[in-house]
Amino acid sequence: MNQTLRIIHHRRSTRKYAATPITSEEKDAILQAALRAPTAGNMMLYTIIEVEDQALKDRLSVSCDNQPFIASASYVLLFLADYQRWVEAFNWSDAPRLAMEQGLQPRLPQEGDLLLACCDALIAAQTAVIAAESLGIGSCYIGDIMENYEVHREMFRLPRFTFPVTLLCFGKPYAEREHPGLTRRFGRNIIVHRDHYTPVDADAFPAMLSRAGQQSPDEVDVEAARKMAQGIYTRKFVSAFSVEMTRSVKRWMEIWTGAED
Ligand SMILES: Cc1cc2nc3c(=O)[nH]c(=O)nc-3n(C[C@H](O)[C@H](O)[C@H](O)COP(=O)(O)O)c2cc1C
Repeated sequence: MNQTLRIIHHRRSTRKYAATPITSEEKDAILQAALRAPTAGNMMLYTIIEVEDQALKDRLSVSCDNQPFIASASYVLLFLADYQRWVEAFNWSDAPRLAMEQGLQPRLPQEGDLLLACCDALIAAQTAVIAAESLGIGSCYIGDIMENYEVHREMFRLPRFTFPVTLLCFGKPYAEREHPGLTRRFGRNIIVHRDHYTPVDADAFPAMLSRAGQQSPDEVDVEAARKMAQGIYTRKFVSAFSVEMTRSVKRWMEIWTGAED
């Protein structure tokens, strides 16, 4: 295994940070790596906000589903999907009028543009994660930044064609690592399909959901697997944060599509 693969295979989300700060050289290296990430049409449809103000971090630790470790992270980056600067550059260059003269219909960014910009922002974010990991700096994503759109819009003065798709907390890991081992993943056969989509057979759910993963079917505790699915449904899918995220993202989409200002 080469060094890059070793870094990828040993990465774990880090939520407990040492007091050692992240240096400005390390921040630069993380940002420079992120900016080299692939980007749709080479348009860089994202913005990265360095959240340096402790008061903002404190507010985020509440607004993002009460996760206090956000406030203790040495470095926090907010990744926005961003079409705003292109909309402004299009107008500045008179592109919509010229397009109309060529028989093309001017338009504003819509759902497809938002998803493409989210791809850009997330690819840049994951590039930052791997760059940080290579410097011995741990990280953790915060998906809850998609919640509470009113709060985050005001906190970061976000214009219409932006969307806060993810937040990343960085810090030197406290002691070694919080958890000695890696988190489990579904078996490769569940995730990697060949040539076409293959639905999971109901008989395969117990093995898929078993704690250890990839057990042989006769070793699997079916009841424990069923409880696991029930737990995920309750804690991750119908729970308050998830319902709030759905509400908040709907509002962002309404803002983009002009259904709401
Ligand atoms: C999109 C996304 C959102 C996440 N949001 C949170 C979060 O809000 N809080 C948190 O503690 N971890 C969050 N995580 C980290 C996951 O919980 C973590 O990646 C997962 O449990 C697997 O653990 P590992 O990264 O250590 O392998 C998020 C990860 C992703 C990819």
